[in-house]
Amino acid sequence: MNTKGFIFDLDGVIVDTAKYHYLAWKALAKSIGIDFTVHQNEQLKGISRESSLNKILEWGNKTLPKDKFMELMKEKNDQYLSYISKMDENEILPGVTQILDYISKQKHPIALGSASKNSKIILKKVNLINRFNAIIDGNNVTKAKPDPEVFLKAANAISIPANQCVVFEDSVAGIQAANIANMISIGIGNATILNEADFVFKDFTEIHQDFLENLIKTKKEELKKV
Ligand code: BG6
Ligand code: MG
Repeated sequence: MNTKGFIFDLDGVIVDTAKYHYLAWKALAKSIGIDFTVHQNEQLKGISRESSLNKILEWGNKTLPKDKFMELMKEKNDQYLSYISKMDENEILPGVTQILDYISKQKHPIALGSASKNSKIILKKVNLINRFNAIIDGNNVTKAKPDPEVFLKAANAISIPANQCVVFEDSVAGIQAANIANMISIGIGNATILNEADFVFKDFTEIHQDFLENLIKTKKEELKKV
């Protein structure tokens, strides 16, 4: 059998946590006199916590001493944690559970590849933690997407060669990371924004079984771009 490895990003793919990141960053930015917009929040998708704060400071034309920077990162995360503490299974995005069911039924390994350091907390909250054979997240990597480190480590953890892995991602940086890793990149979201992906779907309900069957039996090099 042709075994593929399936690697899922978390934020924006399994759950919509961007809204909580937004609220927490907005409050934080306001506390230091910076206005933070929804549009700017879009640009933080897939980006680490530290890089996010650096960008916000840059947009607000501010520099901070290291200890204050660390304090603000903690403040933001405490606020974010208070939002995610209320999450439950209802926040799993449409079609996610079904695709996880399908992949595990076909006995293909599943990994998480996320920039978040809160991934395990979130997966526990939405009761999906046991669905993953490996979890590689912000705690296991030194280089942020578009560097492929997170996905290569995830592939390694499930013992599947990179060119036999399929990555589901909602961020441009994540799609670029999957492409650099020589994996099959599947964008979840807007096809114009995610135009570098091998395939793009609005959400998982648009991914049908025949597409997955074809994906599983075909080599990356032979997959036709849509
Ligand atoms: C990514 C999100 O998955 O994780 C980013 O898209 C976020 O918006 C990053 O900044 C880090 O998350 P956390 O939970 O470690 O602050
Ligand atoms: Mg994401």
